Amino acid sequence: MKTIIFTNQKGGVGKTTLCRNIGWQLAVLGYKVLLIDADGQGNLTKSFTDEEVSGLYEALTGSGIHFQEIMENLSLFSGSKKLSLLEKQLASEIDGYLRLSELIKTPDFERFDLIFIDSPPSLGMLTANGLAAAEHLVIPMNASLFSMQGTNDLLETVGKVTKTFNPDLSLLGVVINTYDMIPVISRQIREEIIESFKEIMFKTVIHKSIKIEEAVALQCGVAELTGSGTQKVRDEIKALSDELVSRLDMNKILEISGGALTHARS
Ligand SMILES: Nc1ncnc2c1ncn2[C@@H]1O[C@H](COP(=O)(O)OP(=O)(O)OP(=O)(O)O)[C@@H](O)[C@H]1O
Ligand SMILES: [Mg+2]
Repeated sequence: MKTIIFTNQKGGVGKTTLCRNIGWQLAVLGYKVLLIDADGQGNLTKSFTDEEVSGLYEALTGSGIHFQEIMENLSLFSGSKKLSLLEKQLASEIDGYLRLSELIKTPDFERFDLIFIDSPPSLGMLTANGLAAAEHLVIPMNASLFSMQGTNDLLETVGKVTKTFNPDLSLLGVVINTYDMIPVISRQIREEIIESFKEIMFKTVIHKSIKIEEAVALQCGVAELTGSGTQKVRDEIKALSDELVSRLDMNKILEISGGALTHARS
């Protein structure tokens, strides 16, 4: 099992978008994926379901574990407004930042190959819980000056996290999302980002596409979309998912987990 957090305290950079679409893609390929919505906005949850069922809040407050099945191989641990209440509560406990980490070590979670955590746009206790629970970090960003600044701040925070409570946390990669090639400034900033992060950058860039929102409206991943204008974004999400898996060295896991998965991946 590998646990990955999608995080950036800057809002609207694509944390939820990448979490849901890469999660969906890898579930289609045969990985058993759990998406954890650790954001009180509940965007990830609402992007898949209209139902309000118990999820992360209830699990962290000891009221039981309930996974919502989205499709074969894809489960959701839902987030809701109630999570905001937890921020304060967790902050008052000396080891409040370890709740999620303790939770995912319980046997209920052993069935998953991948756990993706979608975090809120802040560095509060829920994000701290995600950073403590994860082994890897994916940072989505936009080709904008503010996003660049936010990402540098985040890297500083990650440095503190690895020095204090999670020395094993590793940065899997930084990915540019909502890229728009037309403005010259975006291209210049993209160059700067690549120059700063070098090999940490994922090679795949996710361009701006209305299909991303269409998939949300249909409560599915972009992998599911057909019709004109869908190929490019599908290919990009697939390429990014492949890069992520190869950085995790997950191909090996599928091969040893047996024929069905190997077949599903090809
Ligand atoms: N590549 C893209 N093309 C077009 N729209 C996109 C793309 N990526 C994300 N969006 C849209 O931009 C908005 C913000 O994206 P998203 O919710 O994934 O960001 P976020 O980082 O999770 O935001 P928050 O910090 O509020 O949680 C959403 O409406 C989403 O559908
Ligand atoms: Mg989000």
